[in-house]
Amino acid sequence: MTSISIGLIGAGLIGRKHLRKIAEHPDYTLAGISDVNSDAVAAQYPEERVYADYRAMLDEARPEAVIIASPNQLHADAGVECARRGIHILVEKPVTDTAEAARVLIAETRRSGIKTLVGHHRRHHDQVQQLRSLLTEGNIGALVGVSAIWAVYKPDDYFKAAPWRTQPGGGPILINLIHEVDFLRFTAGEIVAVSAISSNRQRHFGVEDTAAALMEFENGAIGTIIASDSAVSPWSVEQGTGESVEFPFSGESPYRFIGSHGSLEFPTLVRWGQTDGARSWNRPVISQRLFATTIDPYLAQLNHFRDVIRGAASTMQSVEDGARTLIATLAVTEAAATGARIDLRDRYEALSGAFASSPAHARKSHHDQQAHLRPERPEPQSAGRS
Ligand SMILES: NC(=O)c1ccc[n+]([C@@H]2O[C@H](COP(=O)([O-])OP(=O)(O)OC[C@H]3O[C@@H](n4cnc5c(N)ncnc54)[C@H](O)[C@@H]3O)[C@@H](O)[C@H]2O)c1
Repeated sequence: MTSISIGLIGAGLIGRKHLRKIAEHPDYTLAGISDVNSDAVAAQYPEERVYADYRAMLDEARPEAVIIASPNQLHADAGVECARRGIHILVEKPVTDTAEAARVLIAETRRSGIKTLVGHHRRHHDQVQQLRSLLTEGNIGALVGVSAIWAVYKPDDYFKAAPWRTQPGGGPILINLIHEVDFLRFTAGEIVAVSAISSNRQRHFGVEDTAAALMEFENGAIGTIIASDSAVSPWSVEQGTGESVEFPFSGESPYRFIGSHGSLEFPTLVRWGQTDGARSWNRPVISQRLFATTIDPYLAQLNHFRDVIRGAASTMQSVEDGARTLIATLAVTEAAATGARIDLRDRYEALSGAFASSPAHARKSHHDQQAHLRPERPEPQSAGRS
């Protein structure tokens, strides 16, 4: 089978990681790189065709697919330009910077029929797939709630290298907590309302350094997340899975899912429960370690994108689904600013309603992606996995 010709827009922190994965991948050929700092990028990648203007790359290198890894504000414009040329897109998270921009991108991708995937790479972990199956099967009974921490210390040069990270939209809510929001939507179910508080007390930037959010799920479960880029801790999914060498492995679980018949830690997949059908605080709760392999989620994401492009798989995350994650995450910022509890259902509905051409199809597509997590739950099963 011929390899997929792929271009990259934005050769920054994550863009360079994508370039390393493309170079390792037998099914992709790099068509070109676009970056406004084209001279610096060309010096770093002397073998490659480098363009300052991404439209020139799209027209001259004519890739079949593109990874959009530029700053958030450019995702929608770049995605629309790709869609108009029939080029499939893997767009980094957040899918766009605003819900309005997401609506424009969704409409254009639907019109063109290109394949889309949003770069919430965490969905591609084996442990995440396993967790999702366990929750779906009712392994811990009905999901009662979830508690999560994402806390790391980002060094000063992270902010010096890209000052937009010190401004609204560049903080841990939109950059990092969005991964937690997406992960929870994927594993625990649709989030229907949020409340939140945030603080910039550690770094005093124009954006938060720490935030706490309360989540309400469609299936009745509730959840809490605290996220900070100014705290030293072993609790983040990156450290817990060891997914990147940049974030040293801790092997700790920052997530606890609690259910009517047991609990699960993630990513270690330690399952807690009681024997002989007991459910009592007077009886011991014992643990069993379930198993899932640790894989490179960025490589798995590229594998999946290849399968989506070739028609061998449906996308694990369309731009519409990515827009729901964006809407829920933007609501965290809004809830922290206003103190309001924000119901998301109308906002999701407005997003679906944006597809004048085929609203029924758009709603169905999202409905299918969430089908595993309807409120009705099967009877709990024993922890049979090992
Ligand atoms: N999935 C993940 O794990 C992950 C991790 C980090 C960042 N991201 C996302 O990736 C995107 C980029 O983040 P980053 O940390 O790499 O940022 P960055 O600032 O390091 O890199 C952005 C790059 O885009 C280039 N650029 C800016 N305007 C451009 C334009 N008009 N055309 C072409 N290139 C342009 C910049 O010169 C820079 O090289 C963001 O949307 C971010 O949220 C995702």
